[in-house]
Amino acid sequence: MKARVQYASLNQEVSCDTNCCSLLDASIENQIPHLHECGGNGKCSTCRVRVLEGAQNLSPKTQAEIEMTRSRKWDPSIRLACQCFIKGDVKIQRLIWSSAEVNKLQIETAPEGRAEERPIAILFCDMRNFTKLSSQNASFDIAYLLNRFYTALGDPILMNNGIIYQYVGDEIVGVFGTAGGSREKNCMDAIRAAKGMQYALERLNKIELQDFNVKLEIGIGINFGLAYVGHLGHPTHRQFSVIGDPVNVASRIQGQTKKTGANVLISKAVYRCVKKDALNIGRKFNPLLAGKEERAEIYELLGFKEMDLQLELQASLHLLLQDEDKFASIFYEKVFEKAPFVRALFKNNIKDQGRLLTHMLGGIVYSLSRPEHLVMGLKKLGKNHQRYGVKEAYYPVVKETMLETIPEVLGDFYTPKVGKAWGQALDFVIDTMKAGLVSDQSKLENRA
Ligand code: HEM
Ligand code: FES
Repeated sequence: MKARVQYASLNQEVSCDTNCCSLLDASIENQIPHLHECGGNGKCSTCRVRVLEGAQNLSPKTQAEIEMTRSRKWDPSIRLACQCFIKGDVKIQRLIWSSAEVNKLQIETAPEGRAEERPIAILFCDMRNFTKLSSQNASFDIAYLLNRFYTALGDPILMNNGIIYQYVGDEIVGVFGTAGGSREKNCMDAIRAAKGMQYALERLNKIELQDFNVKLEIGIGINFGLAYVGHLGHPTHRQFSVIGDPVNVASRIQGQTKKTGANVLISKAVYRCVKKDALNIGRKFNPLLAGKEERAEIYELLGFKEMDLQLELQASLHLLLQDEDKFASIFYEKVFEKAPFVRALFKNNIKDQGRLLTHMLGGIVYSLSRPEHLVMGLKKLGKNHQRYGVKEAYYPVVKETMLETIPEVLGDFYTPKVGKAWGQALDFVIDTMKAGLVSDQSKLENRA
């Protein structure tokens, strides 16, 4: 029997078999972009939907879904698309639109009405020269510029599993690890975000601000420590809050960037959490920070000692996918030229397929900072590809073509380092997809 799934915001309707197809399968089979970071294992919650009509036509909640619903305090209309099977007509609305939104979900894990102590890294980024820019460009739309600035500099926070916590004046505050993670990971995420912000600013100055006769600069301070995390405030207006001495100290460390002329400063606490040989450290300072009796020990962060794969991918992602259709069309044209026999495997619209591919590539870069979900998601993608008729032998063509497409699209922004990073990332993606393949032997065993 067939059932209809209506997508409210898309005004689109698809048809699928009842009892054997989950809501997520219905989206994938019909080329409807639907985030599913953990590949349908009920772990990430990115596939969540609101069921607008026909809730009774979905299978009951699985144990994984019951636990997720309880811990996140969802209302009953929210379901995990990967966990519910379709038994009849439904109307749904997807709730998470982009990979950038995914980290915001960490806020759901913060307690209501009270605060819990959690080990987090806090990053303060201050924008310099903004007053000059606004006074020199009276007619210029400052709101537009601020939004560009906040977007360009906020993305590296989001790509590294951080939350954009606040904008205070010309400052952006990011927090890392509010929902868990090791000390080392949370600090490395914050450090990578800081370096990503520097790259993003370079791009902003070079491309978007070149007509404004101004060069924006930033100063970044990072600290690590136990801070209180929770939803606090008047019962009618509670908001996500991060409170504690480590937050104030992070702000003061940022204040030192102006005095010392350093771009990024990290506290001793951050320095001690990461591997000694991971970072290139410059000068060391011992300022007396406001409100403290003892002098602090802070370090100038110059960068990573070795190429950081994630940073290189993150820094090139926007340029690579700023015109997603262009990237996809160059890529598929090359693939079909090199391996004409694979054309027949693509049954659906190739332009829509291109969007799914670029959506997935972007999602992979964002979710590298949540590797446990990413691996599950890629294994599922590998299984899907087996169903599409993709043989293991076809993967090298795709890798080779992708590595040819990247320099073509990036133009002057391409560097051998970027190429190397994408090469390594594709090896990881392909190996993990292959790990999800069901071997002929295990197919036989399953049948027996
Ligand atoms: C880097 C590795 C690859 C990635 C990230 C990737 C990504 C994707 C994505 C996101 C989809 C959409 C459907 C879904 O999510 O299941 C898809 C579909 C598909 N891919 Fe791939 N893919 C890869 C490698 C390959 C290779 C090596 C081939 C073989 C030539 C291939 C052929 C296909 C086909 C035939 C479909 C279904 C298209 C249709 O339904 O018309 N992919 N791929
Ligand atoms: S919970 Fe459904 S895809 Fe992760």
